[in-house]
Amino acid sequence: MKIKVEPIKFINGTVTISGSKNTILPLMVCSMLSKEEVVLNNVPKISDVEVMKSLLKDIGITIKHDYEKKQLILKKEKIKKVNNLDLIKKIRASIYVIGGLVANRINFKSCYPGGCSFSDRPINYHLDFFKKLKYKITIKNNVLYFKKTKSNSQLIKYTLPQKSLGATINILYTSVLRKNTTIIENASLEPEVLEVIKMLNLMGAYIKIYNDTILIKGVRKLKGTEFNVVSDRIEAGSYMLLACAVDKSDVIIKNVDCIYLSEVIETIKQLGVNIKIHENNVRIVKEYPTKGVNKKASYYPMFPTDLQQILTVTCLNSITSSVIVDEVYPERISQIKEIKKANGKVMYKDKKIYINHSNINSSNFYAHDLRCGFACIILSILADNVSTIENFEIVLRGYEDILDKLTALKIKINLVE
Ligand code: EPU
Repeated sequence: MKIKVEPIKFINGTVTISGSKNTILPLMVCSMLSKEEVVLNNVPKISDVEVMKSLLKDIGITIKHDYEKKQLILKKEKIKKVNNLDLIKKIRASIYVIGGLVANRINFKSCYPGGCSFSDRPINYHLDFFKKLKYKITIKNNVLYFKKTKSNSQLIKYTLPQKSLGATINILYTSVLRKNTTIIENASLEPEVLEVIKMLNLMGAYIKIYNDTILIKGVRKLKGTEFNVVSDRIEAGSYMLLACAVDKSDVIIKNVDCIYLSEVIETIKQLGVNIKIHENNVRIVKEYPTKGVNKKASYYPMFPTDLQQILTVTCLNSITSSVIVDEVYPERISQIKEIKKANGKVMYKDKKIYINHSNINSSNFYAHDLRCGFACIILSILADNVSTIENFEIVLRGYEDILDKLTALKIKINLVE
């Protein structure tokens, strides 16, 4: 899929933020842990949800999707092994289905999860924990074989070597129904994890958080529940940074969960842009050029890694220089290749990104991954002429109705092929 984007110097209009991609996917997998119905509201219309639906159907979950109501109803039938391994390769969140299968204690085989390949994305923490649950895991020709042995009913204390969102959620799934207590130290407390904990506790789980330690006391069974998917903090942050990137803007962003965005809001203030918050609505008014920032993307509540690539591009239009470091994924830098194509002044050295004010040339950009795709939209808008973006389908994995939302801001963006 290829799109064409025209440059623009002033944007105005309103966008409404959808349900969170990185929250809905693990919430859907919670349905593997109860025999009762799980109802999810505020479901985003994105392709990752479609892949997750196919994967869950493949392993024995029945699903009704009401697109009008933005609602999913999921019910576990008999859980069986994955038939279509290709589905695992399509998204990163398929690692959660592997966790769900381990929680159901069945033997199965899998391949490595796919998703955005902006960096080496190992799954060793997940596998280490599954081994503690007495799963024997063998790997042959990139196929992973999971074989259960006698289950572990001892107390387990597991210290994550690094705060991992995915591994924390998988430990939660595989611990809530255990016969004993599980303690996760150095757990990830990203908002997505907090939302999964909220939902599992509503389903009858016993999960408590003490600083960055999570205590899980196993329960006999979980019940069904109805849960609203939180609004997507990364989608909201993407549109906010877009409004900061163009020369002038007056944009209203609705349905924003500001609690989870405090560092992003702080960054926008540091850029020197006027931001006003009223309940769940944010108004960004940019009248003057932005200043550069010195920013470290890290674990919540710090600036999110998922907005690092987009901030890099926003800073190209700042009058002073910026330095950005990504502590979670230091090599998440596919946007740099695209910035260089457009003659942007950017340098990557010692895991730091240095950015200077640049006049951007139009180009044929390539969306290497989801957030690089959004960064390419901003690059195209800043450019001196019409640009194109290839591989745009990757952006549809995580941004609902993106063409309509950008058009509502008066941006001229069209599908070419
Ligand atoms: N890590 C390991 N081994 C593991 C797991 C993680 O070394 O077994 C390392 C990673 O290499 C990384 C760090 O731990 O350096 C954190 O990775 P994490 O496990 O938290 O990432 P993830 O669960 O694979 C999710 C999101 C990503 C987001 C990261 C960080 C989903 C489906 N993906 O990935 O989202 O960047 O957390 O917050 O929820 C995106 O939306 O564009 C995206 C890539």
